[in-house]
Amino acid sequence: MKFSALVDRIQGESVAAWSIHAQAREAQQRGEDVIVLSIGDPELETPAPVLNRAIETLRAGDIRYTPAAGRYALRAAIGEQHRRRSGQEVDAENVIFLSGAQNALFAASMCIAGPGDEVLALQPLYPSYPATIRASGAHLVRVPCTAGFRPDLGKLEAAITARSRALFFATPNNPSGVILSEEDMKVIGELARRYSLWIVADEVYAGLAPEGRVPGLACRLPEQVVTVSSLSKSHSLPGLRAGWMVGPKALVKHAEALSMCMLFGLPGFIQEAALTALQGPNAPELRVRELCTVRRGTLLQGLAGARGLRCCVPDAGMFALIDVGGTGLSGYDFMRGLFNAERVSVLDGGAFGEELRGFVRLCFATDEATLSEAMLRIRRFAQTLGRPS
Ligand SMILES: Cc1ncc(COP(=O)(O)O)c(C=O)c1O
Repeated sequence: MKFSALVDRIQGESVAAWSIHAQAREAQQRGEDVIVLSIGDPELETPAPVLNRAIETLRAGDIRYTPAAGRYALRAAIGEQHRRRSGQEVDAENVIFLSGAQNALFAASMCIAGPGDEVLALQPLYPSYPATIRASGAHLVRVPCTAGFRPDLGKLEAAITARSRALFFATPNNPSGVILSEEDMKVIGELARRYSLWIVADEVYAGLAPEGRVPGLACRLPEQVVTVSSLSKSHSLPGLRAGWMVGPKALVKHAEALSMCMLFGLPGFIQEAALTALQGPNAPELRVRELCTVRRGTLLQGLAGARGLRCCVPDAGMFALIDVGGTGLSGYDFMRGLFNAERVSVLDGGAFGEELRGFVRLCFATDEATLSEAMLRIRRFAQTLGRPS
């Protein structure tokens, strides 16, 4: 039997990078002594009011069909959070509730680009972006970054053509933790205006940035900016699959039509839990943010002076990139060697783009004891490798 061309477009490119992560998870399930730092899934307790609300509403029978764009009160609460973060005045009709930021990125891609279009994306690129962008039939154009993983705005302008339709980026970035500055945003905004580009701003890590906000363009270009976010990172609720898109009302209507044929509404008890997370005190978000700030410090200190390794300092988020070039290994070989020798899983930087082949990414949002043990093992492994040049 034949499959559609879409199936080829959504094949992942970075399967090899995840092989060690999969092995580590399996070993963990067998009860072996492994440390998994290859994924951004902090093992924090679920906020009790959120969990209780989900259970209560489910018990009360909240398991019927719901509106395709999400319940109005939830959309309004998301709009309110977006207003606090960005300053942009929006209402519930500017918002669609979807199944995680990933689903919102997919919806954005399908609604704004198509075959023959080009979609630009700032490197380093979260590994699901290529498939998400290509699913629409559009061609992905990767925009290289500078050595410090900041956007190369000259290269961005040079990459724009008559076919360019949209620009995707994540701020703070995964894996680099770079937050795009006001200055970056000014230039990007001017280019977007001049070339009529959609901006898809992935802000899943915005809650972990200082004061829970990042510079953005939503106020300046309300008709062109789509903001994507979720509760996965800010509230450490990735399994709730609570995410959304905020953008112009016409775009939200198109996304609603897509959601009608893809999801036909999401579970009511999940929406009630998400509403509780958004309306409750900011404590869960602050807790994740503080945890990340403290652990980042522990990591930078703990790996300082490790043989052949250089830790890049992230602006925000739960990941750090480690330059392993001084060990003589590629990121991929370092990832494999570290797991085989010390049972610590990290991710090959190459999964995020060519520029990161000499790096590994590590998630530091874990408990102090685990992180300390992981650093000890990483240092020990690095010590066995070739001398730094
Ligand atoms: C940059 C980025 N965007 C989107 C996602 C997906 O988030 P969600 O769990 O809300 O679908 C992730 C998850 O790691 C991410 O790192």
